Amino acid sequence: MGYWDDFTGEYESLFDRDPMYADALRLIVELVGDANRKRVLDLGCGSGTLLARIADENPDAELYGIDPSERMVQGCVNRFRETPNVHIAIGSALRVPLPSDYVHCVVSNLALHHVPPEDRTACAAELARLLKAGGRLIYADMFCDVDGPVDDPTRARDIIHKMVGKSLYDLEHGAFETMLLHIGDIPAVIKGEGEHFTTDAAWREHLAVAGFHRFEVIPVEPAEFGYRILVAVRK
Ligand SMILES: C[S@@+](CC[C@H](N)C(=O)[O-])C[C@H]1O[C@@H](n2cnc3c(N)ncnc32)[C@H](O)[C@@H]1O
Repeated sequence: MGYWDDFTGEYESLFDRDPMYADALRLIVELVGDANRKRVLDLGCGSGTLLARIADENPDAELYGIDPSERMVQGCVNRFRETPNVHIAIGSALRVPLPSDYVHCVVSNLALHHVPPEDRTACAAELARLLKAGGRLIYADMFCDVDGPVDDPTRARDIIHKMVGKSLYDLEHGAFETMLLHIGDIPAVIKGEGEHFTTDAAWREHLAVAGFHRFEVIPVEPAEFGYRILVAVRK
């Protein structure tokens, strides 16, 4: 996980001026609702910003943050040293070190696009394993509207349109570092190198097979850039 290992420390400044990121976190916390006396997992928790918001709103929740990046995890361990109901561990979207049928809610923001296409079935199965019946997945990420081979011009155009649009939006809102990140990421997203954007419909199919239903897709505005929250209920 070298890429995100490099970002620990400056990570907060990457997103702290990004209005869409702020809106996404606010929406996710609203969707989680009252999590007191419940267990919530943040999969791909990064520096722990979302976990901190959920902890603030839900002082009696048991919160779990999992990330494959050792430096991100170490940063979170330090951040939550005085917060005994927040538990941090190394893990990945395919292997979460928690028991089956354990959490009431899984949240994930901007992390599961790192899961390669061939691992999406296993990831959906892992999410289904962790959640209690009736529990909810609240999965926010950048989605595209066209999937297909790496050299498909329609797919590339969709990615460029969304990512350039998002970069310009970042620039206009003073999120200069975030703009640089998004602009720099465009070739990797097109080539599928560590970044695997797909449609929310593709994820819904994997999740339906794994045992989820009652899907809802909520756009983070402006909707045209593909930042969406996919909500699903474990059967
Ligand atoms: C853009 S950051 C988002 C972090 C955090 N969720 C947030 O909203 O600020 C992406 C995170 O995904 C994590 N990640 C990468 N591959 C992953 C995987 N296979 N499973 C879970 N998390 C992963 C990275 O280590 C990194 O912390």
